[in-house]
Amino acid sequence: MYRANEERYDFMTYNRCGNRGLKLPAVSLGLWHNFGGVDVLENGRAMLRRAFDLGITHFDLANNYGPPPGSAEENFGKLFKQDFLPYRDELIISTKAGYLMWPGPYGEWGSRKYLLASLDQSLKRMGLDYVDIFYSHRPDPDTPLEETMMALDQAVRSGKALYAGLSNYTADMTRKAASILCDLGTPCLIHQPKYSMFERWVEAGLLDVLEEEGIGCIPFSPLAQGLLTNKYLHGIPEGSRAAKSWGFLKPHQVDPALHKVGKLNLMAQERGQTLAQMALAWILKDRRITSVLIGASSVKQIEDNVETLKNREFSDEELHSIENILRS
Ligand SMILES: NC(=O)c1ccc[n+]([C@@H]2O[C@H](COP(=O)([O-])OP(=O)(O)OC[C@H]3O[C@@H](n4cnc5c(N)ncnc54)[C@H](OP(=O)(O)O)[C@@H]3O)[C@@H](O)[C@H]2O)c1
Repeated sequence: MYRANEERYDFMTYNRCGNRGLKLPAVSLGLWHNFGGVDVLENGRAMLRRAFDLGITHFDLANNYGPPPGSAEENFGKLFKQDFLPYRDELIISTKAGYLMWPGPYGEWGSRKYLLASLDQSLKRMGLDYVDIFYSHRPDPDTPLEETMMALDQAVRSGKALYAGLSNYTADMTRKAASILCDLGTPCLIHQPKYSMFERWVEAGLLDVLEEEGIGCIPFSPLAQGLLTNKYLHGIPEGSRAAKSWGFLKPHQVDPALHKVGKLNLMAQERGQTLAQMALAWILKDRRITSVLIGASSVKQIEDNVETLKNREFSDEELHSIENILRS
C-alpha cells in the first residue's frame, strides 16, 4: 500500500494561479504520453507516486490521452483508486475536451453537447466525482464562443468541475472568452498554451492578456517533447518519444534542433544543471507563469525536473547568450 512521503511539501514551490485563490506546484505532471494502454502501468504508478512525494500536486489529463484515446484516464483512474484516494483533497486533477473522441458530429470541438458529454465520460473513466479543472482543449471556429463558455460554466455549476480553463486559445480569443466567463460568474482560472525556448508565440500578447485578466498560465511541452534535453544529442535512443510510432515527436523534427540544443547543453553545464532544468527554469523566470507542465517517461526524469527549483536565476548575460543561441 502506498503511503505518501511525510515531507512532500518541504521542497516544492506553490504559485498562485493569476489572481485566483488556487495555488499550483511550480512543476506539474501531464499524462499525455507514457500512461496509455500501450504503456507499462507500473511505470505510470511509480511516476505518479514519486511526483506526489516530491510535492507535485497537479496531474493533467485530457479525454483523448492514450493511445488508445481514453486509456490514460482509465489507467489514472485505476492508480488513483489504489494509491491516491485518501489524498483526493490534496490533488488538482484536470481534464479537457476538444479533440476527436467519438464518431459523428458531437465527438469533438466545442459544442455544449460534446463538452458536457465528454466530461461525464472522463469522470467515469477516472472514477472521480469531479475534476478540479475542466478545459476547452481548443477553440472551435464553428461554435459561438458563448456556447463553449456556457458549457464550461455549466460544468462548474453542476459541481463536476471546480474551475474552468482554456487551452490553445489566441490572445484575442482568450480576452473574449475570459470576459464571457466572468459575466457568467465562472472566471477563467488558467490558460494552457504550448511554450518553450523553441515555441514562443505566447510572448506576443497572450501573457499580457493573462496578466491583465488575472488568469494563470501553465505552459505545456516546456521541453519541446524532449528536444530541450540532452537525450537526442547522440541520435534517437530506443524507447524515446521520437522512436515510438505513436509518439507525437517525429524523428524528422530532431536533427534540425540539434545545433541549438548542443550549445544550450553547454550553457546548462556551465550553470551546473541539466539542459532540461535550464529549459524549465527559463520558463519559470517569468512571474506570469504559474507552473510548467512536464511529461516524463521515468521517475528519474521527474526527479531531475523538480531539481530545477534549486537554480532558477539567470544573469542578464546568460539570458542574452540564450537569445543568441535561439536566434542562431
Ligand atoms: N493542451 C494541449 O493541447 C496539450 C498538448 C500537449 C501536451 N499537453 C500537456 O502537457 C504535458 C507535457 O507535455 P510533453 O510531454 O510534451 O512535455 P515535455 O516536458 O516538453 O516533454 C516530455 C518528454 O521529455 C522527455 N523528458 C522529460 N524530462 C526529461 C529529463 N529530465 N531528461 C531527459 N528527457 C526528459 C521525456 O521524453 P521520453 O518519453 O522520450 O523519455 C518526456 O516524455 C502533457 O502530458 C499534457 O498534459 C497539453
